[in-house]
Amino acid sequence: MKSSIWDGFQADWTNVFGQDWNVTPSDMEACGAEIARAAGAAARIRESGCGPREGERVLFPHLPYLLQEKTLMPEEEIAAMKALSAECRGGFDAVLSVGIGGSYLGNQALFDACCGPYWNLMTREARDGSPQVFFAGETADPEALSSLLRYLRTQAEAKNGTYRVLTLVISKSGTTVEPSGALSVLERELPRFCDEARFAAVTDKAKGALLAKCRERGWLHFTVPEGIGGRFSVFSQVGIVFASLLGLDIRAFLRGARLTEESCRSEDWRENPALALAAMKYIASRNYGVTAEIVMPYCARLRSLGGWYAQLLGESLGKKDTVDGRPAYGGRTPVCAVGTTDMHSLTQEHQEGRPNKLLQFIAVEEPAADLDFQLEERGRPCTVPMSRVMKAALRANAEALASAHKMSCVLSIRKVNELYLGGLMYFFFLTIAYEGAMAGIDAYDQPGVEAYKKILHQDLAQYAGPV
Ligand code: PA5
Repeated sequence: MKSSIWDGFQADWTNVFGQDWNVTPSDMEACGAEIARAAGAAARIRESGCGPREGERVLFPHLPYLLQEKTLMPEEEIAAMKALSAECRGGFDAVLSVGIGGSYLGNQALFDACCGPYWNLMTREARDGSPQVFFAGETADPEALSSLLRYLRTQAEAKNGTYRVLTLVISKSGTTVEPSGALSVLERELPRFCDEARFAAVTDKAKGALLAKCRERGWLHFTVPEGIGGRFSVFSQVGIVFASLLGLDIRAFLRGARLTEESCRSEDWRENPALALAAMKYIASRNYGVTAEIVMPYCARLRSLGGWYAQLLGESLGKKDTVDGRPAYGGRTPVCAVGTTDMHSLTQEHQEGRPNKLLQFIAVEEPAADLDFQLEERGRPCTVPMSRVMKAALRANAEALASAHKMSCVLSIRKVNELYLGGLMYFFFLTIAYEGAMAGIDAYDQPGVEAYKKILHQDLAQYAGPV
């Protein structure tokens, strides 16, 4: 059973819904109250920005309209972003995106999907004037930052007097250890060998150490809007400013999100693919013992999209209590895989291991390039386009899983570009928002993350000098 979300973006529920071993129409009927609750909660969020907890603001449904409404991103920030990206293309040699978690994963996914693995090895002309792009502050591993600095230094030496680097630090709180620490190193080291080391930031508009630093140093800074959590921030200044510095089509990215938003508003799950998939996954978890979800794009460029989705799923639905204090333990353990690569490592366990998994495949209808494989089948030579092998492998995986009564669904996009990526990422926002409401949990907080951050800060405090 297929469902068109919008032209070029569709879902296939065949292996998750409508057979006697997977989610049945009567399961959906029995789940009517929860589905209605989720539709109602989403309508409330859309209309009033009210989250599930008293006083909680949830504004992600405004993000697809970011450049039109100009409320979450004011006019001055849009103008500053345009000016900085104009300067960036042809001006800066490298952009460093510094952030972690929700302030990193979406940008890595966007970069990998839209720019591909060899971006930094291409000539500037081949990149159409855009800079090289690097990520930092996404780990406290000293080796990672040292190698980046070593590489940048060699680039600067080769450019001999004209090397310019723009560092975009992204941190909603402005206090997270890894990006704050990486920034301290970059501020110290970059001016030693760069001819220009410029800094800009995306952070809270009213508080935090990063904001204070921006004010003190006179750095350009953009806002992480109120009511937008890290994992829901890729369509806000967090992703949009970064994408515009690379020359990506941010309008197409937001248009994709808008097309999904407007296709997934109905209160009837039969007319709302995001609500339908959320309900199927919710029922699979509650009634069929599904505790893990494998996100598996059949596209090498989408590997890091899996990492982004893993955070969205894990941090949003992995909650021990419902909003009204009952035990929840909902959600599923996210697992990232890529086809066809991981069919040769993980699929054995998906097929024959503990029957607690649901697979979410992502297919690309028209890859940007194709090549022919020369193979031998039934002892005879044959020529098969690689794109055909990808499709056949996905189908084979899904069919084999279905034969063992393992559930899977397929989300297909026509191409990997800003438009379809925007549609797909926003679709994931909605499925998570709907499922969180079905489960009665708060999908927008992350008390677990905050708990370990507190312990880490207590540990590091022993390095603080006397008051
Ligand atoms: O979802 C979360 O809260 C985390 O993953 C944060 O995004 C991450 O810790 C980074 O936080 P910040 O943007 O405040 O630096």
